[in-house]
Amino acid sequence: MSGKKPMKKPASKPVKAVKAATAPAAAAAAPVKKRTVATPQTPRGMKDILPSEAKYWRAVRTAGERLAAAYGFEWIETPIVEETALFVRGVGKQTDIVEKEMFTFVDQGGDELALRPEATAAIARAYINHGMLNMPQPVKLFYHGPMFRHERPQAGRYRQFHQFGFETIGEQKPVVDAELIICVHRFFLDLGLQVKVEVNSIGTAADREQYREKLVAYYRQHRNVLCENCKVRLSKNPLRVLDCKEPGCEPLKQGAPQIVDVLSEDSKNHFMKVLEYLEDAEVPFELNPYLVRGLDYYSHTVFEAVFPAREGGSKSAAAAGGRYDGLIELLGGRPTPGAGFAIGLERTILEMKERQIIPLDESKPVVFLAQLGEPAKRKAFKIFDDLRRAGIPAAVAFSKDALKAQMEVANRMGVKYTLLIGQKEVLDGTIIIRDMEAGIQEMVDANKVTGEIAKKLVTAPLAPLTAPAPRDSVSEESSRKEGDSSG
Ligand code: HAM
Repeated sequence: MSGKKPMKKPASKPVKAVKAATAPAAAAAAPVKKRTVATPQTPRGMKDILPSEAKYWRAVRTAGERLAAAYGFEWIETPIVEETALFVRGVGKQTDIVEKEMFTFVDQGGDELALRPEATAAIARAYINHGMLNMPQPVKLFYHGPMFRHERPQAGRYRQFHQFGFETIGEQKPVVDAELIICVHRFFLDLGLQVKVEVNSIGTAADREQYREKLVAYYRQHRNVLCENCKVRLSKNPLRVLDCKEPGCEPLKQGAPQIVDVLSEDSKNHFMKVLEYLEDAEVPFELNPYLVRGLDYYSHTVFEAVFPAREGGSKSAAAAGGRYDGLIELLGGRPTPGAGFAIGLERTILEMKERQIIPLDESKPVVFLAQLGEPAKRKAFKIFDDLRRAGIPAAVAFSKDALKAQMEVANRMGVKYTLLIGQKEVLDGTIIIRDMEAGIQEMVDANKVTGEIAKKLVTAPLAPLTAPAPRDSVSEESSRKEGDSSG
């Protein structure tokens, strides 16, 4: 993310004194020694999500679920704990995730388990375990939930974080890769956020073997300036050298061989087709010939969605994914292609906040029912319940009698309409609808008020998830430029 400041651990809470239950006489004789109890804190890199954050989490999950429903992805949930071997085999023994970042433990029964660092390997396992190969293909799944990586915490990087992911298993066509990239782009767009998608192809295992040789030959010439980690990577996992940000290593990338030059005809054709679909769908993308991704299961198309970098900040991946045609077989299933992506939800929410995008709070009442006098109060119970059952978020203050006090509550809640019922309205069988913003009042049949309000509230079938972004947050200029760069 933009800021590189290390996350500060909150100072420990003020120490509470525990009251000593000593007898008064003894207390007078000697000063009471205060015992201190330190309040436990969240583990480093993990945080509480508080009610004040709820609207952001609701908005990102709703955005993902709406998209999943539209594109035909079905919900799946796998355990948070898996066998460690799943990730060692699936993600790769020599990846940072497996080598350094997994939270692993041996349970009471001696099983070696890990808190999942990602979900794709688990979904591939579930696909095999539940014989999903026998279902109509492709199987399209989505999930959301916490992932765990023992990384160095900083803004936008946590040890427990949440992903919203999509996986399409059982279809090799390039249109699948394109559909996933389009979904990534639309997810952010629906939340009022701009991303640029970086794409590359890392071809087949054979393509990568050839590329590895070229890469090793190139970096060997510069071995003396490589960092110690990259010297090791060069023999173990040379593609990872391309991701190194060390001052000696990073500039070398510019002269490194590009994988596109060794791709087979089939791999090239697959990739070209994906790019054509993206152009047609007007997804702003950029070719990044050095994007290789840090998980070993990828093949062919790989991609990352990045937020525009802010001044002084670095660009960070908001979401990432790619094709993983070898993964199911690697885990013991029949050869089955697959592709997917995962969105980082903390990073998404951080970006919404930085761009001042406020999600609409769907739990907030839009109608307040005000009643004046005992007969009106009695009638109000039924009207309020009708509103509630019609799914209209409504509020009422039965304990308040004065209209002024009730209107104060309505104003505080910021409702769109207030319904007013007094003695006269009870006798006439009417109720007043007051538009709070326009200050206009109208009288309607009390028995029809729920329908009248529902009619007023119906907007588009898909209500926007967020309030419109302030003009400067999504610069038309920059989005036009990004659109131009496609191709
Ligand atoms: P990944 O690139 O490791 O891919 O993670 C995907 C996204 O999760 C990242 O782009 C980032 O937004 C978020 N993320 C990763 N690590 C952290 C962290 N420590 N703190 C906060 N956010 C983080 C995968 O996990 C693959 N399973 C994606 C995939 C699905 N590929 C195919 N299908």
